[in-house]
Amino acid sequence: MYSDSKDIIILGIESSCDDTSAAIVRNGYLLSNVMANQDVHRKYGGVVPELASRAHQNNIIPVVDNAVKLAGISLEDISGVAFTRGPGLLGSLLVGTSFAKGMALARDMALIDINHLQAHILAHFIYEKGKEQEIPGFPFLCLLVSGGHTQLVVMKEDMNIKVIGQTIDDAAGEAFDKCAKLMNLPYPGGPEVDKLAKEGDPEAFKFAKPRIKDFDYSFSGLKTSFLYFLRDEMRKDTAFIEDNKKDLCASLQKTIIDILMKKLELAARETGIKEIGIAGGVSANSGLRNAMLEHAGSHGWKVYIPEFRLSTDNAAMIAISGYYKYLKGEFADQSVAPDARWKIQ
Ligand code: KG4
Ligand code: ZN
Repeated sequence: MYSDSKDIIILGIESSCDDTSAAIVRNGYLLSNVMANQDVHRKYGGVVPELASRAHQNNIIPVVDNAVKLAGISLEDISGVAFTRGPGLLGSLLVGTSFAKGMALARDMALIDINHLQAHILAHFIYEKGKEQEIPGFPFLCLLVSGGHTQLVVMKEDMNIKVIGQTIDDAAGEAFDKCAKLMNLPYPGGPEVDKLAKEGDPEAFKFAKPRIKDFDYSFSGLKTSFLYFLRDEMRKDTAFIEDNKKDLCASLQKTIIDILMKKLELAARETGIKEIGIAGGVSANSGLRNAMLEHAGSHGWKVYIPEFRLSTDNAAMIAISGYYKYLKGEFADQSVAPDARWKIQ
């Protein structure tokens, strides 16, 4: 039923948080990747789940329609529809899941459920026509840093992923966002901190670094140390944040990157792996990207850094993950339901 054409064309749908995205991948090559961001959350300083699911409901049909048109294909050509089953916001996941199930049923397409975290890592395996790119060799060590997760994983040849370390409390993206909020920066704070940090002194202030065993991370202590530092300084000078914003951002960013790189270095040393990448929204951070490039030189790593548009949430990574699952014959059926806390298997 699913393999009557030579080409394998996968439609990917991402709706785990506040971006509605659809993408088309043909035989592993990206044909289109369309995104609708939701500005509605900005004024609330964070994603409002109820508003997110309503916006997905409005966006999903035009976004899918656009992705199909831009890819220059028709719905009949699609072999399978891949969707984010989790982790994420349940109401948001429900929109993408229900849409994909309906489409697969109506058009007799394969249905493929995708883990959002795994997909961030698979973003390294997307080919694009006209672009020279290398995909990672195996085993591949990847630092997955997003708004909700911070994990160190090893991917083997069969594309199975093993988590070897993770945060015991906040994620790195959360540390960026929460500390940014304390400085009255708009949501999401990560990109704002990144921008301001470029003009600040990373050595201006020192913040607490965690002592956590093995390959695990912790970011809640940093957030608390940042909060107390600001509170104390603001008591002495109410303009402290305003007057020192760039230095605060640069110092905060440096601390987060130091914490991330220390465990990545340890993992690289202990596993002996030299094929090393970053993935997830925080991998868009310019300081983290530079730190990776420096390590390539000083530690002999071969580093893989996704393009900006493939770092943050996007459907291209869902479509490529769907393509690889399609090749393995791993399909879902109509009983599949979203899983807001779905872990990497
Ligand atoms: O992967 P992602 O788009 O969504 C989740 O699955 O969580 O990651 C979003 C996170 C947010 O915390 C955001 O602040 C952070 O990625 N982020 C950044 C940058 N761009 C996005 N953090 C630091 N620097 C950036 N340039
Ligand atoms: Zn994500």
